[in-house]
Amino acid sequence: MQTLDPRLRGDDVPNWKSAVHSIAFAALFLLLAPAAQAADSLDNRIGEALFRRMWVAAPTATQAADGLGPLYNARSCATCHPRGGGGRPPDPAVEGDQGVGYAIKLNDDPVYGRQIQSNAILGQVIEGRPRVTYREETVRFPDGETVRLRHPTPVVEDLGYGPLAQATAMSARVPPRVHGMGLLDRIPAEAIEAEAARQAASGGPVAGRVNHVTVDGKRQVGRFGWKAMHPTLDHQDSEAFSLDIGMSTPAYPEPWGDCTPAQTACRNAPHGDSKQFEGLEIPSTVIGLIDGYLRDLPPDGSLEAPKDKAGTTLFADTGCAACHRPSWRTGEDPAHPALSNRDIFPHSDMLLHDLGPALGDALPMGEARGSDWRTTPLWGLNRLAARDGQLSLLHDGRARSVTEAILWHGGEAAGAKDRFMTLPAAERKRLVRYVLGL
Ligand code: HEC
Ligand code: HEC
Repeated sequence: MQTLDPRLRGDDVPNWKSAVHSIAFAALFLLLAPAAQAADSLDNRIGEALFRRMWVAAPTATQAADGLGPLYNARSCATCHPRGGGGRPPDPAVEGDQGVGYAIKLNDDPVYGRQIQSNAILGQVIEGRPRVTYREETVRFPDGETVRLRHPTPVVEDLGYGPLAQATAMSARVPPRVHGMGLLDRIPAEAIEAEAARQAASGGPVAGRVNHVTVDGKRQVGRFGWKAMHPTLDHQDSEAFSLDIGMSTPAYPEPWGDCTPAQTACRNAPHGDSKQFEGLEIPSTVIGLIDGYLRDLPPDGSLEAPKDKAGTTLFADTGCAACHRPSWRTGEDPAHPALSNRDIFPHSDMLLHDLGPALGDALPMGEARGSDWRTTPLWGLNRLAARDGQLSLLHDGRARSVTEAILWHGGEAAGAKDRFMTLPAAERKRLVRYVLGL
């Protein structure tokens, strides 16, 4: 069991109460359950409290929860991933609406850096307000049914540090659902490589690729994020602290997060790096607890194989399963026998595919080009089924329904999209129902 992190002792954050609650509950659990399991549960409850913690600006007397910003997007992980779910883009019809966790990535603007930070601590200037405008288009199925698609143009209002550089490209992102990450993390890297090799050898139009990322001097298989640019949860979560919350971690030790040398006021602001926390704002123990919490968060959907057999066949025959690979087997993890060697049903091959220019951006990440995206795991959509028509699917949340999401598929997925379009209406409904049952 990890030792209790000093960051959870006497502090001034609103989540403190819930952390105490968790610890009390976990202590009770300790008395009742076998030691290993209880240790897990205690750490995970602390991890959850840290995932929900509202970080504050430095300096504070205890230093336990400070170091926010100076520029940031949100004060906690949970603000953007409420209950581990995904986010949504701003609604242009609602004045001032910011969406949930909607962020605009940049290809290293000399002033603004890698992301627009829409919030700032007292005395600092925000970088801007990410918004979106839509142009609607009507798509007609061969049988006459129509669907409206909305083409997004991301915009940043109220730029605080002058115009973006000419060469700067923008790419809007909504937060993905984070349930089931631990199981995706436990798919052996060699199995993902083998899937890519199998697709390449098949010689068909669908040929997914691994996004190889070099982290800590090691070439690894990227698996998290919309472009699979993070090989581990540690890497993904550390980047979130830097870009989204503005806090330093072992992987991103700058206390000013994404502030560039041109943003001198931000670079000179007080920070929360502290000797008692490895000289950082977020020490490795805190990252470890949050990773651990996410690693054990079960998927929202069923852990069993889909029961709708006709739907499974239709999903495969239409060509969806070529990328949305239904199942994987997790590897051996001695620390978690329950999660080892088990079949899981995320409906993703974990590979990058070129989905065509309509979904593309001008922001390559690692080996992912602008129009490459990681096949999104579809498990957990069952939780959202009742809201189909008002969802925020795809990397920028442009698709309001599963049907819209499918119609945006192009490139390697053009064949599957075309087959979907020519299915009889009842079959289309059945396929959508299948996806919304995952
Ligand atoms: C400002 C909103 C915001 C905050 C705050 C935020 N995230 Fe995210 N998160 C995102 C977005 C947007 C993405 C997708 C980024 C991408 O791939 O382009 C993401 C992606 C992720 C993923 C990858 C999920 C997947 O399907 O691969 C994980 C895990 C994650 N975040 C965890 C965290 C943790 C842990 C924190 C707190 C330390 C955090 N996030 C804070 C917006 C946020
Ligand atoms: C060539 C690979 C490929 C094929 C074939 C394919 N998809 Fe996808 N799918 C993707 C990728 C990649 C994304 C992520 C695109 C993005 O976010 O811009 C995606 C995203 C989705 C999403 C959005 C999920 C979310 O949470 O945002 C749905 C729904 C979906 N696909 C369903 C289908 C269905 C149904 C079919 C068959 C008609 C299909 N896909 C065929 C690769 C594929």
